[in-house]
Amino acid sequence: MTTTGQAVQVDEGKLMQFVFRAVDEVGATLNAALVVMGDRLGLYQALDGAGPLSPAELAERTGTAERYVREWLNTQAAGGYVEYEPDGGRYTLPPEQAMALTDPDSPAYLPGLFQTALGAVLDSPKIGDAARSGAGFGWHEHGPDVHEGCERFFRPGYNANLISAWLPALDGVVAKLERGGLVADVGCGYGASTVLMAQAFPNSTFAGSDYHDGSIEMARRRAQEAGVHEQINFETAAAAAYSGTGYDLVTMFDCLHDMGDPVGAARHVRGTLKPDGTWMIVEPHAGDRVEENFNPVGRAFYCFSTLLCTPASLSQDVGLALGAQAGEAKIRDVVTAGGFTRFRRVAETPFNLVFEARP
Ligand SMILES: C[S@@+](CC[C@H](N)C(=O)[O-])C[C@H]1O[C@@H](n2cnc3c(N)ncnc32)[C@H](O)[C@@H]1O
Repeated sequence: MTTTGQAVQVDEGKLMQFVFRAVDEVGATLNAALVVMGDRLGLYQALDGAGPLSPAELAERTGTAERYVREWLNTQAAGGYVEYEPDGGRYTLPPEQAMALTDPDSPAYLPGLFQTALGAVLDSPKIGDAARSGAGFGWHEHGPDVHEGCERFFRPGYNANLISAWLPALDGVVAKLERGGLVADVGCGYGASTVLMAQAFPNSTFAGSDYHDGSIEMARRRAQEAGVHEQINFETAAAAAYSGTGYDLVTMFDCLHDMGDPVGAARHVRGTLKPDGTWMIVEPHAGDRVEENFNPVGRAFYCFSTLLCTPASLSQDVGLALGAQAGEAKIRDVVTAGGFTRFRRVAETPFNLVFEARP
C-alpha cells in the first residue's frame, strides 16, 4: 500500500490494473483514426479474401507507401483486427473482421461508427468550451464525418430490421403502406430510412424532413441515386414545423432525444397524424436507470451523448437534453405530454429500442 498526500491508502495492484486498462484505451482511441484511415485507403478491402499479404503486397495493391502500411498493419495485428504470421511476415484479415470492416450491407458493419466517433472527437474542444459556458452545439455545426459516419453506421441496422421486423411490429401499418400510405420521416438526416421505406413500399408517398439543410441536400441525392426521388419530398424543417397533415405514419429514427423541444415535436406529430395514425420512435437502447447502462453499448452511447446529442439539444429552444440514454420511461413522458394516449415498446436490438405511439 502507498499513501497519497491526503493519507488515502492506494492499492498499488489496483492502481496498475487501472493504468494498464487506460493504456489499452489510449490504443483504442488512436485506433479509431487508424480504422478510418484503413477504410479510406482501401486497406481492409484489399486484405479481404486476399489471404496472407506482406506490407509491400498490400501497399502495391492500394497505391500506398510500404513503410506506412507496415506500421498500420502492426497496429491492426496488436489490436486483433488482423492476424500476423511471424514466419512469413504476412498479415491476414479474418472473415469475421472482413464482414464487420468491409461489407456495408452487414448489420455488423463498423466503419461508420468509427467515422462518426472520430468526427465527434475532432470537434470535442468546442464541446469543452460549451461545457464551460453552458451553451449548446448544434448537429449542423459538426463536420461532415459526424453526419456521414452516422448514416453509414445506422443504415445497415435499418436494412436488417426496419422492413422485416420494426414496421411489422406496429399495429396495421404494413397493410396501409402496401395499399399506399402517407409517411413523414422526421429528423431523417441523410434519408437512409426514408429511401429504404420508399423502396419497400412503392405505393406509398414519403415526406422526409430535417432541420439541417446539408443533410437534406444529401438525402435528395441518395433518393435520386436509389431511383425513389419521385416518391419522396424532402424539406428542411424542424420537427415542430414540418409540413403536411393526414399522415398514416410518422417516423423518427435516433433523433427525438437530439431535439431541444421533443414535447413540442410530439404535439406537432399528434396534429399531423390521421386519427388512427401511428408514430414510430426509434431510440438508442437504454435502461431507465443510469447504472443499467454501464455496459459497452451504454458507455459508447453516453460518450456520443456528451459530445453530440446533449449539446445538440441544448443548442435549441427549450433545451430539454434528454440524452442518448434517456430510456423508455422518459420517452413515454415526452410522448404522453405531446397528447398521445397509447405507448408501447414493440421491438429492440442491442443498439435500439422501438416504440409505437398512437393518438
Ligand atoms: C443522430 S442523427 C439521425 C439521423 C437519421 N434519422 C438517421 O437515422 O440516420 C439526428 C438527426 O436529428 C436532426 N435534428 C436534430 N434536432 C432536430 C429538430 N429539432 N428538428 C428536426 N431534425 C432535428 C439532426 O439534424 C440529425 O440529422
